[in-house]
Amino acid sequence: MMCVVTGAAGFIGSHLCERLLADGHAVTGIDCFTAYYPRPVKERNLAGLLGRPTFSFREIDLSAGVPADVVAGAEWVFHLAAMPGLTRSWLDFDTYNRHNLTATHRLLEALKGSPTLKRLIYASTSSVYGKYASGDETLPTRPSSPYGITKLASEQLCRVYGDEFGVPVVVLRYFSVYGPRQRPEMGYHLFIHAILTGRAITLTGDGLQVRGNTYVADCVEATIRATQAMPGETFNLGGGELVTVLEVLRKLERITGKSVTIERHAPRPGDQLATGADVTKLSRHIGWKPTTGIDEGLARQVEWQRSLLG
Ligand SMILES: NC(=O)c1ccc[n+]([C@@H]2O[C@H](COP(=O)([O-])OP(=O)(O)OC[C@H]3O[C@@H](n4cnc5c(N)ncnc54)[C@H](O)[C@@H]3O)[C@@H](O)[C@H]2O)c1
Repeated sequence: MMCVVTGAAGFIGSHLCERLLADGHAVTGIDCFTAYYPRPVKERNLAGLLGRPTFSFREIDLSAGVPADVVAGAEWVFHLAAMPGLTRSWLDFDTYNRHNLTATHRLLEALKGSPTLKRLIYASTSSVYGKYASGDETLPTRPSSPYGITKLASEQLCRVYGDEFGVPVVVLRYFSVYGPRQRPEMGYHLFIHAILTGRAITLTGDGLQVRGNTYVADCVEATIRATQAMPGETFNLGGGELVTVLEVLRKLERITGKSVTIERHAPRPGDQLATGADVTKLSRHIGWKPTTGIDEGLARQVEWQRSLLG
């Protein structure tokens, strides 16, 4: 297949590109290196891709418009480009609106009427459900942050382009993805970095927040399989196993052999108190089940972060 992956220099996008290439597909990766985290980190994510014969990379800001030649002939488009993370979305609404909603609009406009497009996979988030994101796709959507609002609005925009113009969209709502290359501001990355460098861990809230984590390779596998799902469908995509943040810290103590010092802070506005995907629908439609347990996944992330520290 001819594939386009937006957000190709990001955490999940770079893994997705590598897996598509390994499966024999041709991939055009798009990214504009937003300042959300440092460009060199994203360039490192891309390092294994650049120079591969069936991979091409375009540095494009989707929100400024998508040149027709970039998506010409594309059969599968995976739209992962976004400003992620809910905390900063309170501080810079315009940037979130531009990189999430406007960028999605420009991409949909470029894909509208494409004779080759078989699926557009939109990477959405459990944040569309808000503070209590535990259950299946019938949970009410009630985002608790501007980030969640822009992602839900983008889902809706995809739906409208599906209904009105036949763009064959499938929406995946990712739940807390982790593993090697996890974004540097994400919780597990920060925890592991603090433990490995002997610093205290900043814990917001009581640590009893429940998380249903998704190991990145499981997320990528489901994302590719979702190209076989019916257009118009929306699926939760999560790892199944539920753990509290404190349980994760105990696991990290076991994996690293180091003890954890915790500094407690008040919860942040909009923080999710529980996330846990019921993935029954996804399993039924595309025969997918997560295969990496939390202990194994955390151990791989620790190994990767150790390698970064040298
Ligand atoms: N990581 C998670 O746990 C998680 C959970 C739920 C949803 N998601 C969604 O999955 C997707 C990927 O997340 P990630 O964790 O890999 O984030 P990431 O920040 O590592 O990757 C996103 C990439 O998109 C690029 N980008 C942003 N705006 C762009 C634009 N206008 N034009 C071109 N490129 C642009 C960024 O530079 C970045 O490299 C996002 O859509 C995010 O909302 C992630």
